[in-house]
Amino acid sequence: MNLQNFKDRNEKITCLTAYDASFAQVFDECGIDSILVGDSLGNVIKGDENTLSVSIKDMIYHIQAVAKTCNKALLIADMPYKSYQTSEQTLKNANLLLDAGAQMVKFEGGYEHKASFKALQNNSIPVCGHLGLQPQSVIEMGGYKVQGRNKNDAQRILDDAKALEIWGVKAILLECIPASLAKQISEQLSIPTIGIGAGVDCDGQVLVSYDMLGITKNTTKFVKNFLSNGSIESATKDFIQAVKNSTFPTNKYSF
Ligand code: KIV
Repeated sequence: MNLQNFKDRNEKITCLTAYDASFAQVFDECGIDSILVGDSLGNVIKGDENTLSVSIKDMIYHIQAVAKTCNKALLIADMPYKSYQTSEQTLKNANLLLDAGAQMVKFEGGYEHKASFKALQNNSIPVCGHLGLQPQSVIEMGGYKVQGRNKNDAQRILDDAKALEIWGVKAILLECIPASLAKQISEQLSIPTIGIGAGVDCDGQVLVSYDMLGITKNTTKFVKNFLSNGSIESATKDFIQAVKNSTFPTNKYSF
């Protein structure tokens, strides 16, 4: 599954998180384009307030489970907090996630991680960037807040996105930024963007599956519960259709 082909043919990319073989099988069989083993497992599996406690060992365990049933979708895996601080550490940990079954690794941040991005590029390891709200920096960011609302912050996110493209990143997840900024970034980059709380003009959409299925309580504005039709399969198919048709997210779910 090559995400670039989707952008090149103007087809939206669909992505859901999964942490185990059973959910991954349902999503894969419903035709999802990519599955993210997200470090959101800290919240939804471990029951923590944030993602900071997730370890490489946790990630390997969940990636191995998902990889057993993720046959068609692209398996993306998060590099957890403090696992990509130097280029050597990034390379070592990325290889551990690939050995577990990931096909692409994702990590948060921009310019400050130039050495890590370049190390993975030099070793031909596919990377997805993650800009805007960065849950691993939730304490520094002062909580789960929309990012890029002022001109300087918006420019920094746009500059980071352009730098990531130059450093060989294959896609960028944009979290919780104004829809107008996400549109600008998506138009100016050749690589695809995947949004969550970033409006309908991203090249794809991702949701945390536990949010999409209405399991999570107290979710934020960008979350839509797709389980209204009564089965996980129908919710997954509705999510895929809504992203492909650009009927999700509407303004109601955007900033
Ligand atoms: O860990 C995760 O689930 C994420 C979300 C933003 C999709 O990165």
